[in-house]
Amino acid sequence: MRSIAVLAGDGIGPEVMVCALEVLKKLNTTHNLGIVWKEALVGGAAIDATGKALPQETIDLCKKSDAILFGSVGGPKWETLPPTEQPERAALLPLRKMFDLFANLRPAKIYPELMEASPLKNSIIENGVDVLVLRELTGDVYFGQPKEITENKGLDTMVYTRHEVERIAHTAFKAAQKRNKKVTSIDKANVLSSMVFWRKIVTEVSKNYPEIQLNHMYVDNAAMQLVRNPAQFDVMLCGNMFGDILSDEASMITGSIGMLPSASLNASNFGLYEPSGGSAPDIAGQNIANPIAQILSLALMLRYSYNEEKPAVSIENSITKTLSQGYRTSDIYSKGCTKLNTTEITEKIIANLA
Ligand code: IPM
Ligand code: MG
Repeated sequence: MRSIAVLAGDGIGPEVMVCALEVLKKLNTTHNLGIVWKEALVGGAAIDATGKALPQETIDLCKKSDAILFGSVGGPKWETLPPTEQPERAALLPLRKMFDLFANLRPAKIYPELMEASPLKNSIIENGVDVLVLRELTGDVYFGQPKEITENKGLDTMVYTRHEVERIAHTAFKAAQKRNKKVTSIDKANVLSSMVFWRKIVTEVSKNYPEIQLNHMYVDNAAMQLVRNPAQFDVMLCGNMFGDILSDEASMITGSIGMLPSASLNASNFGLYEPSGGSAPDIAGQNIANPIAQILSLALMLRYSYNEEKPAVSIENSITKTLSQGYRTSDIYSKGCTKLNTTEITEKIIANLA
């Protein structure tokens, strides 16, 4: 039996999750997937109900499942809690660590139909943008020890071990094999020891992949190059913190963060799949959010956790078709298109599934 844990969370999370589950229902029928799901509380919703952002019951459900389909967590209601208890930190970070989800894939691709939505000039993006930000997700300054706050000092530790760099580097080169055969490794080797080490290990691992072109780039330069000439990138291999920053930048280039899915995987392809955007509390509950990132996250789940390429491609093609028919949610709307709400665009996407 295939079973997934559905953690919708807060803000627009629940309303876009409903859309992804409608798509899954349909694909269960047309592609005989046999995937069942159970929902559990996470984030602010879980704090309100149980006092904890990641209740034990939710952890137990995730452990029994093949994959986690995640919505989004957080919102103004919980922003006054101590930082370590806030939904983002108290739910997402432990989930990543608990399931060893070290490889975070954040593809940022520009759809020709949405060129107008990009904040960059046409002359910069007309060569296309198709970047995979591959972010290491369980190490670096996020988790390095010691970590402490005292009266006169705040301390975090930036550290990478050989094992951590090796495994994410292998993931990067393997991903590039299926793409445009280019890896740009991002570091700050001109200043940081952990990053000198990162560069050395990535270079070592690259010897196993002679067909892949590897180059190294300092993170500050990479931030600049992304807006100067995004077409130069294929796979951007980043540590946890630099990947956090650059993935937001890459996603914005494509026009709407509401379009971008992500996958966080461990070594056995157990994964957590979530939209790259946040819980968007300002538009929650109005049925106007863009459900596409959540639906594309489902496609990534089918591909990586179940090796179900056909329904995954079917979802991706149906999104492209829906956009080419001129249907848009308000975040990606431009003149001459048909503006639809969350439910309506989902109906179109389902109708377009092959
Ligand atoms: C992300 C987010 C998280 C991170 C926060 C919410 C803890 O920004 O997934 O990119 O920094 O990893
Ligand atoms: Mg982030």
